[in-house]
Amino acid sequence: MNNFNFYSPTYFVFGREKENEVGKYIQRFGGSKVLIHYGGGSVVKSGLLDRVKQSLTATGISFCELGGVVPNPRSGLVYQGIEICKKEGVDFVLAVGGGSVIDSSKAIALGALCDGDFWDFYCGKRVEKALPVATVLTLTAAGSEGSTGSVITHENGMLKRAANSDFLRPVFSILNPELTCSLPAYQTACGATDMMAHVMERYFTNTKDVEITDRLCEGILLTVINEVPKALVDPDDYEARANLMWAGMVAHNDICGVGREQDWSTHQMEHELSGLYDVAHGAGLAVMFPAWMKYVMMHDVNRFAQFAVRVWGCEMDFQHPEITARKGIERYEQFLTSIGMPVRFSELGAKAEDIPLLVKALGLGERTLGFFVKLTEDDVRKIYELAV
Ligand code: NZQ
Ligand code: ZN
Repeated sequence: MNNFNFYSPTYFVFGREKENEVGKYIQRFGGSKVLIHYGGGSVVKSGLLDRVKQSLTATGISFCELGGVVPNPRSGLVYQGIEICKKEGVDFVLAVGGGSVIDSSKAIALGALCDGDFWDFYCGKRVEKALPVATVLTLTAAGSEGSTGSVITHENGMLKRAANSDFLRPVFSILNPELTCSLPAYQTACGATDMMAHVMERYFTNTKDVEITDRLCEGILLTVINEVPKALVDPDDYEARANLMWAGMVAHNDICGVGREQDWSTHQMEHELSGLYDVAHGAGLAVMFPAWMKYVMMHDVNRFAQFAVRVWGCEMDFQHPEITARKGIERYEQFLTSIGMPVRFSELGAKAEDIPLLVKALGLGERTLGFFVKLTEDDVRKIYELAV
């Protein structure tokens, strides 16, 4: 196991109706003027936004609001949010929504405390401060409620890029599984796919003897595989939603990734897909992850066989571990199909002739992508082709 530091100070408030206490927690974490940030209307329709505002008003906290975050959140709204924060003296950003709303809130929190362009932080500039961000989560997927990451798409070129920093971990997150019961089946499945991908980006590693994090990863994957069909059959299944909600958090706050090299090439290849075609991130991952697996499997066939046996219940073929490994990838693909996810470019509306564009957007040049196998530009092209 590699050396690591792990500091994950987000305070989680989990359970039914907990959103009604949001004012109390903002007070506890020092907020006095809040920007409430939300998406395209689901939180208005459900009445959640009103309940959040009531809680703030009851606690005597003043607020302004900015809605309109779209999936694959855009830079334009971030610039607007930053301007509001500076003009209104906002000292706290509250995200009410899914990963896109949280990521947009993090970007605003970053930009509100810098004089330059917030986008520089999404092009490698080191983050040194940000306003505190908190979340009321409505969609289990991205894990942004406990993660260091924020992913924004710049309208100029539709480049989708990430910033990462401990300063971007929410100070608190309210997780009420009931709020996710209104999710359409497709979003539920996209969310499950994304959670699984967060685990697998960590699972496929060259670091040896990482049994504890291997087992944590496998436990999360098994949970998602078990729970998501229940939530699809009965969207109001509280226990399934609750298990998925916590799985999404632990899948990405890095508790199962510490002490081991992580890969993340599939996420970067997917970000180019969702940047270009504006598809759901989870759907893009469903297309890219099996393709990546098929391409890199022989690099460590035993790890893929372990994945097949422990996660997908395949029988180990000791003479031919590659057969077991391939079976695991097959079962993973079948599972994705069973929950309604696309597994090929065409199902996503992506086109083979755009592959050069996708490769170019990654901008690798002589550099490589990922760590499990360090992918060259040519490897990346071949993986996109496998996904066709
Ligand atoms: O905008 P509204 O009206 O709220 O509708 C949203 C949106 O259309 C809807 N929705 C959310 N909660 C709902 C609901 N509909 C009904 N009931 C509810 N309770 O769902 C749609 C999708 O929402 P979005 O926030 O875009 O989804 P998700 O949470 O999957 O976030 C995706 C974004 O997160 C990024 C992705 O790249 C993508 O841009 N990621 C962020 C990460 C991070 N910050 O650590 C890591 C991830 O790997 C990922 O890259
Ligand atoms: Zn993801």
